[in-house]
Amino acid sequence: MMLARALQAQGFGSRKACRMRVRTGTVAVNGVVCTDPDAEVDPDSLELSVDGEPWRFRARAYLALHKPAGYECSRQPSHHPGVFALLPAPLVQRGVQCVGRLDQDTTGLLLLSDDGQFIHRMISPKRGVPKVYRARCAEAVTPAMCDVLVAGVPLRDEPAPVAALACEAIDERTVKLTLAEGKYHQVKRMIAATGNSVVALHRESIGVYALPADLEPGTWRWLEADDLERLERTWPFVKS
Ligand code: URA
Repeated sequence: MMLARALQAQGFGSRKACRMRVRTGTVAVNGVVCTDPDAEVDPDSLELSVDGEPWRFRARAYLALHKPAGYECSRQPSHHPGVFALLPAPLVQRGVQCVGRLDQDTTGLLLLSDDGQFIHRMISPKRGVPKVYRARCAEAVTPAMCDVLVAGVPLRDEPAPVAALACEAIDERTVKLTLAEGKYHQVKRMIAATGNSVVALHRESIGVYALPADLEPGTWRWLEADDLERLERTWPFVKS
């Protein structure tokens, strides 16, 4: 692959802009400045540096973001900043998308990728990758409420009752809810259907991938091969 093409694939601008970047001497390949945009590079072992910032070539981008409250999962946010404002420009430019959406006031694990098939596998109800949420409720949580959520609750515009895979009370007002799908406002609507309401919502995990404890709100990291392998493991979910 040619160097300018590799830069373009990583989101560093148009082909022309990438050629200019290289010519101005701001790009290094495996530690050595290269001013030839047509230089052949090996994408499998390509450590770039662009304006002094290290950047490993990745054919596809897979990321985990600790979403803070007050950010919308949208490229055209309306009332709050978008989560894309938390990512470096090349990732936005190369078109990473949210793997399912979280509400603006929901915190926790958000995956992003530019691999459409991966996104589909993670959100497809057929595959049913479990998503675990911690929901703080306005009213006390009862065993009966958990039973109802696991048995299934009617939701407007849903032809059949929608059930949680699991529900566990964590403390007097908090439940841990495991869902196989990602319907619009699903946790809030399900809990509302029990007569309670959600005051704070946090996503802890997707599949067996848990939000890393050291990933601060507003920060992100690459998903590596072993993370992806764990996310791709087949389900269904086994009740504990
Ligand atoms: N369910 C909700 O109600 N909101 C979210 O952000 C995610 C799941």
